[in-house]
Amino acid sequence: MITKINHIAIVSPDLDSATGFWAEALGLPVTRIADVPEEAVKVAFLPLGDSNLEILQPTDTESGVARYLEKRGPGIHHICLEVADIDAALARLKAANVPLINEAAKMGHGGTRYAFIHPKGTGGVLVELYEGAGAGLS
Ligand code: CO
Repeated sequence: MITKINHIAIVSPDLDSATGFWAEALGLPVTRIADVPEEAVKVAFLPLGDSNLEILQPTDTESGVARYLEKRGPGIHHICLEVADIDAALARLKAANVPLINEAAKMGHGGTRYAFIHPKGTGGVLVELYEGAGAGLS
């Protein structure tokens, strides 16, 4: 059901300083910076093989990402697993009583779909499921 790691998302209060290490010290290219208003974040995309690093900076103080940063500080925010069929994946998780942040998939850019699994069901890791081609946007 899971095909690959689509992206690993890192949260920072300052996108420029956070991308500095990955882009300058490690030499990973930043191919795109985008505003994602539906998740209240600005995102830098750094492709890495078949996956991406995404660096997130909250653009408000109330969103889930902003509250996470406030509570836990900068660092890895979530891991995104790409699935062939997100509806089937969510149904399977529900049947296994895994707590979901999104009971149904949300629409992303370009017809992509995503949903988050609650960290209390995963051993403390926020996990995103993602269905669709190309880079993630959340
Ligand atoms: Co994501």
